[in-house]
Amino acid sequence: MAFGIKLSKGLQWTNVTADKLNLKSLRVAIIGGTGGIGQSFSRLFQSKGAEVIVVGRTFKDGDLKNVQFIKADLDLMSEARRVSQELAKQPLDLVIFTTGIFAAPTREETAEGLERDMAVSYLSRLVIIRGILPTLEKNSTHMFKRPRVFIVGFPGTGELGKVDDLNSEGKYSAMQTHMTTVAGNEALVLDSAQRYPKIGLYGLNPGLIKTSIRNNFLGADSWKSWAIEGIIGLWCQNAEQYALRMLPMMVSSDLEAHSPAFFNNKAEAIQSQKFTEPYVKEFIGNSEELVRKSGIPLD
Ligand SMILES: NC(=O)c1ccc[n+]([C@@H]2O[C@H](COP(=O)([O-])OP(=O)(O)OC[C@H]3O[C@@H](n4cnc5c(N)ncnc54)[C@H](OP(=O)(O)O)[C@@H]3O)[C@@H](O)[C@H]2O)c1
Repeated sequence: MAFGIKLSKGLQWTNVTADKLNLKSLRVAIIGGTGGIGQSFSRLFQSKGAEVIVVGRTFKDGDLKNVQFIKADLDLMSEARRVSQELAKQPLDLVIFTTGIFAAPTREETAEGLERDMAVSYLSRLVIIRGILPTLEKNSTHMFKRPRVFIVGFPGTGELGKVDDLNSEGKYSAMQTHMTTVAGNEALVLDSAQRYPKIGLYGLNPGLIKTSIRNNFLGADSWKSWAIEGIIGLWCQNAEQYALRMLPMMVSSDLEAHSPAFFNNKAEAIQSQKFTEPYVKEFIGNSEELVRKSGIPLD
């Protein structure tokens, strides 16, 4: 993978192809499991026998056994808090975050005063993580020594975002805003791994995959979307192929001793670059302040 990503040789795992896996005792929650990459994960985990809960706005897999739906609009931190309270009641082994949009060409703001990409793609995850991980730490899981949380973003590129303007209130650039959500998700893996040592924290970089993620930027059904998603579809793996590649790594016992860790689109371990401890602290501190300003307490 390009973007200056470096492999991390210290973490190797033994591949067991997905068709050999039986995940009957596994309980998985996928925040953003209604579309794209999250939906591919949901369908694949379900097909291997796992019990799955998906969170999103529009559920399309009501015909599947053992897939429950929690409807939520994660533009809103109040909704993220409600979701975290519902999920905290569940004995989960695995939590996957795939909620996301791309920042719009002109800045959008939610009813709680947050830039919309930041709210959906990053801050809602922070709120849910703070709501569920303290309870999750107390779970003894069926399959793993400790529960696992996978945060899908774009880690490993050294992208640090704009820590002094997390709400994009200064000069607006959609790309800069989106890259700040990317940095936030990488910081969230690093910070949460320190905060919750009884949970395995992992960041996933899927590379480019044809999905709806760029619709808010390119325009759904626009010619730009048609051309760009067409090229991505031709050159890159699709969401189903990506999920098939990742699933054996996500349940591998070789991950037990490693947290935090990051993986590229071939499920190879990669390095987190440039995120010093003080920078992560500053990023997360500013994020907490922003969430509290929106009126939502962080547990
Ligand atoms: N695809 C790529 O090329 C690519 C590249 C790098 C990183 N990623 C990352 O991969 C993750 C998954 O993206 P994807 O490509 O699968 O995107 P996607 O197909 O657009 O799926 C995004 C998911 O987020 C949910 N979502 C969006 N807005 C929401 C809201 N306001 N409230 C609740 N749920 C909401 C959608 O559910 P509903 O439709 O039900 O609202 C959907 O389940 C994201 O974190 C993205 O940044 C993707």
